Amino acid sequence: MNEMAKVPWRNPRLAHVGGFEALDEEQAYWIDNRDIRGQIPASVRGTFFRIGPGRNRIGNDVFGHWFDGDGMLHALTFDARGAWYRNKYVRTPKYLDETAAQKIVHRSFGHNAPGGVLRNIGRPPANCANTSLAWHGGRLLALWEGGRPWQLDPVTLDTVGECSFNGKLGFLDAFSAHGKIDPDSGCYYNHGMGVGKKGPQISVYRIDPDGKLVARSAFAIKLAAFVHDFALAGDYLVYFVHPVGFRNPLPFMSGWKAFNDCVRYNPAWGMEVHVLNKHTLAPVARFELDPFVVFHFGNSWVEGDELVINLMRFEDFAVNETLSDIFHAENSDGGRPWQYRLNLATGMHEHAPLPMRHEGEFPQWDWRFTGRRTRFLYGATLMDNGTPGFFNGVQRLNMDTGEVTEHDFGDGWYTSEAMFVPEGDAEGDGYLVCVVYDARRHRSEVRLLDARQPGLPEVAAVPLRRHVPFGFHCGYVTDSFLPQAD
Ligand SMILES: [Fe+2]
Repeated sequence: MNEMAKVPWRNPRLAHVGGFEALDEEQAYWIDNRDIRGQIPASVRGTFFRIGPGRNRIGNDVFGHWFDGDGMLHALTFDARGAWYRNKYVRTPKYLDETAAQKIVHRSFGHNAPGGVLRNIGRPPANCANTSLAWHGGRLLALWEGGRPWQLDPVTLDTVGECSFNGKLGFLDAFSAHGKIDPDSGCYYNHGMGVGKKGPQISVYRIDPDGKLVARSAFAIKLAAFVHDFALAGDYLVYFVHPVGFRNPLPFMSGWKAFNDCVRYNPAWGMEVHVLNKHTLAPVARFELDPFVVFHFGNSWVEGDELVINLMRFEDFAVNETLSDIFHAENSDGGRPWQYRLNLATGMHEHAPLPMRHEGEFPQWDWRFTGRRTRFLYGATLMDNGTPGFFNGVQRLNMDTGEVTEHDFGDGWYTSEAMFVPEGDAEGDGYLVCVVYDARRHRSEVRLLDARQPGLPEVAAVPLRRHVPFGFHCGYVTDSFLPQAD
């Protein structure tokens, strides 16, 4: 336990920092119903996954950026008897080598490998497998941004290996952290930044319900941009290429600078939007918008000739400073939800902010309706409760009425992404599940909130024996994944 967690905090803006501390233990244990506050609904019998950096330093070395933390997966399967928790690091070469050496060995997103230019020249950042996850086609995948996914066993969380989709994904093919499963077809779409004959490009992949990578295409973009996520709207895949990236790759490729030291936000580079047909993967439209920064998209859909794209908008890239210095950052930055309407017939576009009370991130929705019109947008938020250094609440926006309702976890409690857990058939009929970190006790819980009620009231809380280090993304699947012995 770190010093911050042992004593009441002196600086409420740093009360959250213990949540970034490493979790060394890999565990698997049952939490009995007697130890669960409230009651897990009988309809909730699936598995909640959470991924993020399990450690942000090794030995005496602090990683250069939160994105450099080694990926750790946490899983909680709900059952009539209680819940079964397990956590494990992804056994990437970076994790294995640096665990053995107890120091930084590899070049990563936020720092170069020690040893000077010759140890970094021409080398891509090491895959941390820490950002997001997918369960599709019988594979559980830990996703990163700049490389291939890593496959894990969904019961034991053991690392199976790097996934190439039977050789269809090459060594240099990036595979983003944010794919989308299309409920119409069961296909999984993902993309990756790369370099083609015409310069920077985005490759797009379609994986069929059996897990076969069956189609791919690519389109050229203006700069090597950091395109983290995309929108699936009806029959279209929509990519916002924001002006965050770099035009001169030399300082990075030569080994002189780390990747993050080369990335910047330059509004003069503009914002281009590429629209592809999801069936053919062919470009069908392109828009140019006033620049802003976007990492994550909410659910999106088509109305007549219009693409309706919901996203979390940032006005600049200042949040990257926070992510680079997590153990000292007092302010967490959030975005604000905006809705963009792009007319495919006229080429016109309009946009407006959506009502939300507080800044936030990690937009989520009832994923059974991905690509179709939905009312509810959920997200982690920064409540003004005295300890606002990290996400500390969850909010729900009704995009039809503008009504916002929030759940404040209270001072010293922190959260991140909340996933939708369906119960009935109607959109929004279900629960939200998320991890919360108790800074006073340096422990975490998994909470279930009723997504239908004002204030998103707590339904159940599953206490864990250790903390879950702050992470990026979560997933909920209806499969149980209990050990066979049980
Ligand atoms: Fe993300």
